[in-house]
Amino acid sequence: MCGIVGYIGEKQAAPILIEGLRRLEYRGYDSAGIAIAGDKVTVVKEKGRIDNLQAEVDKIYPVGTVGIGHTRWATHGVPDNVNAHPHTSMNGVVTLVHNGIIENYIEIKNELIEKGYVFKSETDTEVIAQLFDHLFNGNAVETMIKVAERINGSYAVAMIVKGFEDKVFAMKKDNPMIIGTGNGENYIASDIPAILPYTKDCYIVKDNDFIELTKNSITVYGLDGNEKEFEVKSINMSVDSAQKNGHDYFMEKEIHEQPKAFRDTVSPLIKDGKVVLPFEFPKNFIKKLNRIYIVACGSAYHVGMTAKYIIEDMARIPVVVDIASEFRYRNPIINENDLCIFVSQSGETADTLASLRESKARGAFTLSIVNVLYSTIARESDGVIYTNAGAEIAVATTKALMAQLGVCYILSAFFAHAKGLMGDDILRKFTEEVLLIPDKIQRALGTDDITKEISAHIKDHQSMFFIGRGIDYPLCLEGSLKLKEISYIHCEGYGAGELKHGTISLIENGTAVVAIGTDDALLGKTISNIKEVRARGAWVIAIVKEGTQGIEEIADRVIYVPEASRYLMPSMTVVPLQLLAYHTTVAKGFDVDKPRNLAKSVTVE
Ligand code: M6R
Repeated sequence: MCGIVGYIGEKQAAPILIEGLRRLEYRGYDSAGIAIAGDKVTVVKEKGRIDNLQAEVDKIYPVGTVGIGHTRWATHGVPDNVNAHPHTSMNGVVTLVHNGIIENYIEIKNELIEKGYVFKSETDTEVIAQLFDHLFNGNAVETMIKVAERINGSYAVAMIVKGFEDKVFAMKKDNPMIIGTGNGENYIASDIPAILPYTKDCYIVKDNDFIELTKNSITVYGLDGNEKEFEVKSINMSVDSAQKNGHDYFMEKEIHEQPKAFRDTVSPLIKDGKVVLPFEFPKNFIKKLNRIYIVACGSAYHVGMTAKYIIEDMARIPVVVDIASEFRYRNPIINENDLCIFVSQSGETADTLASLRESKARGAFTLSIVNVLYSTIARESDGVIYTNAGAEIAVATTKALMAQLGVCYILSAFFAHAKGLMGDDILRKFTEEVLLIPDKIQRALGTDDITKEISAHIKDHQSMFFIGRGIDYPLCLEGSLKLKEISYIHCEGYGAGELKHGTISLIENGTAVVAIGTDDALLGKTISNIKEVRARGAWVIAIVKEGTQGIEEIADRVIYVPEASRYLMPSMTVVPLQLLAYHTTVAKGFDVDKPRNLAKSVTVE
């Protein structure tokens, strides 16, 4: 949440910062701003999208080759021009941008107000600026360290300090920051893709690093004020096209990239009918494996729920699935015989990262399933499996989730085989079937027309329900989340058997209910539940496998998806759910890629 950039070199900073902010806009888009150090420090900031900032910058054209920028996801204070970053301290000593949350900002703010400091904004960030101003002793690095000793919380901060306008300073704790280095120029960014068009040589900043940048040098200091060694790595990542390639929205493009995302993720994990993982478990770990925890947020949590059904049934290992924001504070019972798996597209989600650290501290082996290369969760895990979905721009995740599902299928088979519950032949057949899934996902994309037709029907609904059993249940939660987060229709997902325990009282004439029934063993039960809601006036959209009989008589619309073994069905079932959310949002005229109040990467708790 929030993206920061910085530039120091020979070129004009403003266009570079704006381009960097555009590449970081997925992290927040309430307001944006830049500060350019030329003859003086010029701050330009605007409420709303980067386009608004660009329009202002085009009017003023701030000249200078040193600058910092920020795109905001509001935490403290409404999204307006005053709360937008950069913030300048009262005496003009420092101008800074911040990503994170300062937890003790009220206490410090009150102290500074007593000392005569006047605050303009409601932000916690301004406290960092005023505190720096108050503590400034002529040495920016020493002052940053003193500030760090006073503030609690998480931060990545980039700053320009009065009297040192030919430098950029930065500090970080529990929020991502990258330094990119080029020929006579250096960059700061919240993530690597923001600076990839300019350089691939990066230093991934560590917690409690204090950075001093000139155009020709990077100096890293530790909390003790001494210079530290640091390693610049050449990052093997291509500049992902930020183009929509003929699609109206990134979400549409990403939905259509799912066969490739799935294939690129699972293919490297299968060799000659066997599973090859890109890391090793400790010796005898699987033999002693007691329990698996899967910890994640949002859609990634739904992947964890799906994995639980598959792993428990195939490998007979108990799986506990937790929402990261609960897990981290609930004193979970974990030891060295437990495996903790963290699923995250961004690899930066604050609660998931904190849960990973908690699990490590308790001695568990930690494995992450992550999309963004070199992200913090990936770097801090004992093992990592990357989902090769490519850059996902739309806030609503689609192709990353599809790739995560692929990893879960493979891991389930790996555990079942390692535990002796799946022989070589069955494993070979299973992996062969997994490799056929991309073609089936491609065919599932053929549900585009029917979902578009249905979206015209549901777009004006106030609320909707998604029901299903077994492996279809997590998909109900996912379908519901996807639709509500971008179309703003209130949605609920339920295990179909749970309906009679309260929710059915909400069903009335015309209430739209999506019923998923892809598991033959449970279909009869789900059909009974469809009949129950239909009898109360529901308008039912059924999602079933091709060839399923007798559904058209009991549902108002039927969406057929390609058939596979029941544990692989989620990859096909999820597609019409995504398309339904997409088309409904387009029909309502909302911004599909940037839903209100949300950000792609949730780096605050
Ligand atoms: O980056 P992560 O996968 O850790 O993000 C987790 C959730 O914030 C994310 O899945 C969110 O729920 C999506 N917007 C759903 O589409």
